[in-house]
Amino acid sequence: MLLTTKEAIEKRRSIRKFKPDPVSQEILLALLDAARRAPSGCNAQPWRFKIVTDEAAKSKLAQAAYGQVFLSQVPVVLVCCADIQGYMEGMRSGIEELAHSGTIDGTVIRILQERAKQMDTQMALMAREHVASRVAFNVAIAVEHIVLRALDFGLGTCWVRLFDEAKVRELFGWDDRLFVVALLPVGFPDESPPPRRRLRVEELVIE
Ligand SMILES: Cc1cc2nc3c(=O)[nH]c(=O)nc-3n(C[C@H](O)[C@H](O)[C@H](O)COP(=O)(O)O)c2cc1C
Repeated sequence: MLLTTKEAIEKRRSIRKFKPDPVSQEILLALLDAARRAPSGCNAQPWRFKIVTDEAAKSKLAQAAYGQVFLSQVPVVLVCCADIQGYMEGMRSGIEELAHSGTIDGTVIRILQERAKQMDTQMALMAREHVASRVAFNVAIAVEHIVLRALDFGLGTCWVRLFDEAKVRELFGWDDRLFVVALLPVGFPDESPPPRRRLRVEELVIE
């Protein structure tokens, strides 16, 4: 059942208890299709995903996430990564595309090109974690697209950020060109939690 954006936003909960029913390949592709439509700085699109269904791998992910056992009791875990190596390349080609299409004003393009050049040098000097955090918020937008689109299929998800990043990479034999941004369990909910506490709208406004 397709939900409106408003319905999806209001219906979403973090789900930590799942039915054993598998999630079809077709649905997983639809989730990734929602991810790839996310906006990103200079259209760099640094998101990459590993689809994990293997029981042993899920157990290891749960261990790397300090024993968050629901990661081993869900049909699929999406390991949501940032391609920090490819990010600068993605930025450069993104800027070129934006310039050619005339989407962005020439002055802004020149500033972006200058920034990209500076970032190249800065990134070579910066700690990996610092670079990763810059790239990661692009990935976070794509992950949230998945989270909301999942509701159209009756699926539940839960953002998981508490994990040992190096351990997760080690598990898949990845080097530090990838940065693991989040683990996202995906499955059919076996719980329906009530809405969790939220600030009132007035509390969000800075006077
Ligand atoms: C960036 C981020 C990291 C999170 N990390 C975890 C986590 O490691 N484990 C977990 O069980 N929930 C995690 N959560 C889920 C939050 O606990 C949850 O969103 C919050 O309690 C509000 O509940 P709701 O999502 O059901 O509205 C995380 C959520 C976000 C957005």
